[in-house]
Amino acid sequence: MTTVVRRKLRAKERVIDNDSLVREYRLTPAKFRDQVQGDYTIFPVRRFDQDTRPFLKWAGGKRQLLPQLGRFYPETFGRYFEPFLGSGAVFFDLFNQGRLTGKTATLTDENSDLIGTYLRVRDSLEAIIERLTILARQHASRGRDYYYEIRDTWFNPARREWRARGGGADSYPVDLAAMMIYLNRTGYNGLFRLNQAGKFNVPAGRYSAPRIVDVGRLRSVSRILSDCAVEIREAPFDEAAMRAERGDLVYFDPPYAPLSRTASFRSYTSNGFSDENQRHLQTVILALAAREVSVLLSNSTAPCVLALYESNREVTRAGLRCRRIPARRAINSRAEGRGVVEELLVTNVKPTPRNHETHESTKRTIK
Ligand SMILES: C[S@@+](CC[C@H](N)C(=O)[O-])C[C@H]1O[C@@H](n2cnc3c(N)ncnc32)[C@H](O)[C@@H]1O
Repeated sequence: MTTVVRRKLRAKERVIDNDSLVREYRLTPAKFRDQVQGDYTIFPVRRFDQDTRPFLKWAGGKRQLLPQLGRFYPETFGRYFEPFLGSGAVFFDLFNQGRLTGKTATLTDENSDLIGTYLRVRDSLEAIIERLTILARQHASRGRDYYYEIRDTWFNPARREWRARGGGADSYPVDLAAMMIYLNRTGYNGLFRLNQAGKFNVPAGRYSAPRIVDVGRLRSVSRILSDCAVEIREAPFDEAAMRAERGDLVYFDPPYAPLSRTASFRSYTSNGFSDENQRHLQTVILALAAREVSVLLSNSTAPCVLALYESNREVTRAGLRCRRIPARRAINSRAEGRGVVEELLVTNVKPTPRNHETHESTKRTIK
């Protein structure tokens, strides 16, 4: 990343050795010491902000696709909406690039455990860190057995009680939020899956040394979410997205329509995301495009999705273009469903010129 910023050192700022404190106190990290010139520090924006990454791993998370998605961030936009938040890879990427400075962001998802966890990281961070530290210590000595003990003896019963009391994200207990992060960091592939009885039933992952408590990252995330310009809510996608107006940006990343019926891993929420939901999403996207909202959708290339977008005249008339890009897909219980597959991007934003290395076939498909 070549962008550089000249930032005037504030009166009390110092060059310090502990990089993790940098974001907290707006100090100049030691690694940029030789870039201090008089009262100024010159540093690459991306390197300085690199620790603000998602604190959850999420099935279908978009970190690997950021270079391709980033080409469709509009030059200018008003407010930002992300109605299928998950781990928020695009939100954090926009933030890291400074593209959200001075803007409001509305982050929503239908999964109340997920939104509840974000809210507790924002509001009760010290309690979360304290509990996670204990969970991490126990996990280091007891491993997978401990994962199953927490999942079955503590998380699911506490979750049942929370549901019995109404179960909204706003009232998500801090203990559940800490366990949710622990299970996410140590469970299989960042999956959140409930069985028919409403119990979280994801198996333990196979990690030799999972990073369970990353204090620096949690602090950065908490600080960003505490910004009064960031709103986090539990909401169905249409309710949140339909608030967007001309010039705003909405990024949609719904649960994938399965490429084949057996490849379905859509149960992020207990009800999944049906073909009917996919059709409704298309009408929302058309309505927003008609209002001159900048929209960006990523989805699978399942036949039902291609029929809704690639071979649909209304979509073309609305000024939306479809592009296929290669992506790695890891969420499939069957080995043949993993590996490189194509992903569909639908957007009314013109791509910015390429400024990074990409996969050969991307060069063919993105124009
Ligand atoms: C593919 S994931 C999003 C991944 C995210 N972009 C990331 O980088 O981690 C899809 C998300 O949609 C949420 N979701 C499913 N159905 C929904 C609905 N009807 N309304 C809002 N969110 C929904 C799921 O809870 C899940 O977090």
